[in-house]
Amino acid sequence: MQIGPEQGTFMTLLAKLVGARNAIEIGTFTGYSAICIARGLADGGRLLCCDISAEWTALARDYWQRAGLDDRIELRLAPAADTLSGLSADTSFDYAFIDADKTGYVRYWDLIVPMMRSGGIILVDNTLSHGRVVDLTVQDDNVQGVRRFNGHARADARVELVLLPIGDGLTLARKL
Ligand SMILES: C[S@@+](CC[C@H](N)C(=O)[O-])C[C@H]1O[C@@H](n2cnc3c(N)ncnc32)[C@H](O)[C@@H]1O
Repeated sequence: MQIGPEQGTFMTLLAKLVGARNAIEIGTFTGYSAICIARGLADGGRLLCCDISAEWTALARDYWQRAGLDDRIELRLAPAADTLSGLSADTSFDYAFIDADKTGYVRYWDLIVPMMRSGGIILVDNTLSHGRVVDLTVQDDNVQGVRRFNGHARADARVELVLLPIGDGLTLARKL
């Protein structure tokens, strides 16, 4: 389920390019994408990781420690929408990565966009879904969730965005 190494390297570079300090990840699994983000953060930067799996994220914690990044990553084990809804009103992120349940993408987006600083970036994974987003014979929940998200994000006047053909499709949005 994890992103590929070229996408990971790209995500590290992006974090450096925007001088990211406060980042959030929705969907952490065994921690690889979190390592890629955390490596790109400015000194003193923090990454908040959201996941519901204690089993997978136990591996993540181990790898973060081995990578010497555990001091800059905080993990919250709860449905991501609950974690996002519970953040304080003055929370501000400059880097966000969404890669959890596809049916939740629109909800995560709507919770995260108001928390992004102007110029901050949001990355959203699997937005091509192996090409199934344009194959209307495919009607499963995940693909429909991504289709809904793609239309929703494209129509959002608060951001400018591009869908990059990296990995399984990576949407890169910049908050205006
Ligand atoms: C595709 S994996 C993430 C892969 C990770 N970003 C990487 O590249 O290494 C999706 C993760 O989303 C988590 N997830 C699923 N539903 C969730 C929810 N409602 N809230 C938070 N995390 C969720 C799963 O437990 C799983 O670890």
